[in-house]
Amino acid sequence: MNPDSRKFPDGFLWGAATASYQVEGGIENNDWAQAAREGKVPPCGRACDHYNRFEADFDLAKELGHNAHRLSIEWARIEPEEGKFDEREIEHYAQVLQALRARGIVPFVTLWHFTQPLWFAHRGGFLHSKSTEVFARYCRFVAERLGHEGIFYMTINEPQIMFLDGQVKGKFPPFNRSLFSGLRAMRGMARAHKAAYAAIHAVHPDAQVGLATHNNYFDFGRNFLAAPLAWFLSWWWNRRFLNVVRGAYDFIGLNHYFHTTIGWHPGSVPRSDMGWEIHPESLYRCLMELRRYKVPVYITENGLADADDSRRAEYIAGYTEKVLNAIKDGADVRGYLHWSLMDNYEWAEGFTKRFGLIEINYETLARTVRPSARLFAKIASENTLPPPREAVQ
Ligand code: BGC
Repeated sequence: MNPDSRKFPDGFLWGAATASYQVEGGIENNDWAQAAREGKVPPCGRACDHYNRFEADFDLAKELGHNAHRLSIEWARIEPEEGKFDEREIEHYAQVLQALRARGIVPFVTLWHFTQPLWFAHRGGFLHSKSTEVFARYCRFVAERLGHEGIFYMTINEPQIMFLDGQVKGKFPPFNRSLFSGLRAMRGMARAHKAAYAAIHAVHPDAQVGLATHNNYFDFGRNFLAAPLAWFLSWWWNRRFLNVVRGAYDFIGLNHYFHTTIGWHPGSVPRSDMGWEIHPESLYRCLMELRRYKVPVYITENGLADADDSRRAEYIAGYTEKVLNAIKDGADVRGYLHWSLMDNYEWAEGFTKRFGLIEINYETLARTVRPSARLFAKIASENTLPPPREAVQ
């Protein structure tokens, strides 16, 4: 590859990601809806009503030059009671995938993105010994009904976040505060992932099946005393789960948001509305770290909360430039999916944070394309980065 080229490899996938509970609306029978009824997290209600408006939303994605899209299947819709599968709901998702294909958009389908059916949550979620087989059975059912042609399946979204926010910090359901249950949940998710990988491949030997890992760049700067801690965290947080389930993924989905500095840190750095540092080099480091797994990597989330859209264009320009640099330096990166297509329910933050390329007016549900989405559309449709100066305007 020409080191000066601004062009991405042919066939590179560009698009955005969402997750069922965050955008669809009308989901009452999962653990998050229950927690909202108990006043522990903000209510989600009709969210963006994407469940009913997906055709129009995919029209916008297509207009914005996207050729890939990540969504998740709401397990509680498909299997509202243990072992009872809802044919109408699986048909709904078949139509969703059809709508994407009709627009030339490749689907990435996540089978579990944080929310659990109530019956599964009530008996302990991934801490329960039967969770492996029930998760695999659900994944198998979905794969049988939706097929595998042109679909990238992703079993589990970010086991690290479920470990930290759900089991150790007590911020997400099931609100546990125990390292021990966190470690047990990690083990449960690893087993469930492996069983789901095998179950989907039993139905479709050629399927593409992966998972989403939430990796950070642990930076020790010049503080060499902090290096061992940074190395430990990179291993434990970024790679341990991937190592445990090694051999059971055809690709890795990388979700990336954080630059974590160990030790001294300059005070004034650009930050998003979440207070998260904007640091494109971190994505480059995470991509280079994943080369050791020798499977293709798709960036399945990367983005920022930016209500007034004052930083998003520069963010996209900066991070995509680092993706191209990583490819030039040997990383096998095949796609970039921005988080998110539209503003949505940001978990414990409710609707207060705005991650969308498309703005949602939650009163009227009107969609408005943000200016930064136009820069992303130019990159996606030309499969090329604009010259550096143009990129940030
Ligand atoms: C999650 C998304 C979330 C995003 C921004 C990721 O960890 O997968 O569901 O909205 O981060 O916080």
